[in-house]
Amino acid sequence: MAKLEASGVTVEYVMPRNGEHLVALQNVSLEIEEGEFVSIVGPSGCGKTTFLNAVDGLIPIKSGRIRLNGREVKRPGRDRAVVFQSPSLLPWRTVRDNILYGLELQGRKHEEQSREIVERLIEVVGLSGFEHVYPSQLSGGMQQKVNLACALAVDPELLLLDEPFASLDAQTRELMQEELLKIWEATRKTALFITHAIDEAIYLSNRVVVFAARPGRVREVVNIDLPRPRPLSLKRDPKFLAYADHIWALIYDEGRKQQANRGNNNGNSHSNRERALSGGGGATTKPGRSTLRRLLPAAFRKLRDRGASGPVAVVR
Ligand SMILES: Nc1ncnc2c1ncn2[C@@H]1O[C@H](COP(=O)(O)OP(=O)(O)OP(=O)(O)O)[C@@H](O)[C@H]1O
Ligand SMILES: [Mg+2]
Repeated sequence: MAKLEASGVTVEYVMPRNGEHLVALQNVSLEIEEGEFVSIVGPSGCGKTTFLNAVDGLIPIKSGRIRLNGREVKRPGRDRAVVFQSPSLLPWRTVRDNILYGLELQGRKHEEQSREIVERLIEVVGLSGFEHVYPSQLSGGMQQKVNLACALAVDPELLLLDEPFASLDAQTRELMQEELLKIWEATRKTALFITHAIDEAIYLSNRVVVFAARPGRVREVVNIDLPRPRPLSLKRDPKFLAYADHIWALIYDEGRKQQANRGNNNGNSHSNRERALSGGGGATTKPGRSTLRRLLPAAFRKLRDRGASGPVAVVR
């Protein structure tokens, strides 16, 4: 049995203005095995975040089924932890106390084991010596490492990451990819990772799922047959570059279709079109403002519903 089984997932949004239905995902099927690292790439607006939110149980699906460990996903749960693109931590808490937060929510604040988990994670994410500093005293990359540690602290069954490095500069982003891979190799957490950067997806993943332009469908699943551990220099390997070319061609094709559709729809354009076409050759892209606007309120709503405001790395 696969760890995550999504079969025939369709998601529709109802536009509040006119009541029209927008099909964001159509008949998406995807299985992720225990300990696998799977990325989703695709043109902007193709439904990547929607799929992640559906797996997180945040939005209802119209049809299909999502199961984690054989159990139907109906709402958010402790078996999943999410890291969003914007590093956002509780500013009045130190690094250590931010990582402890998820365990506190589970009523495990005073357990000896919780202290050990936090200490080990600080080491794993390479923040030893920064335990007692506050988020404002950390760089963006370091803050995102804390977010990652927050998500890992609760030992989720599935780690969901939605463009976690999108707001970092190119150099920090590469270093974070290397760090994430080390962490993943140490923990072997089953991970679903969303990105626009093709090189990031290939470098990290066992498989890269390319989504078709909206409505989101699985266009192709590319198995990444590259050895691990993976040094960053692997990105210059001809086999790596061949994967990048192939995925780039798929996304380019989808981007062109999307553009053509928009032309037919009388200029009803998506402001992030260029992003869909700029992921090739390892290019990194900035997070769309629309994505930020949508995601952040959703993240805080989730925390508010639990009666607390907290880090954007959502733990339960
Ligand atoms: N809450 C919502 N209400 C209505 N439409 C939505 C909502 N959230 C997303 N959409 C629409 O669903 C489609 C898929 O959006 P989604 O955010 O999942 O795409 P994405 O692939 O993550 O895009 P990006 O790469 O820009 O982050 C888009 O057309 C978007 O406008
Ligand atoms: Mg998105």
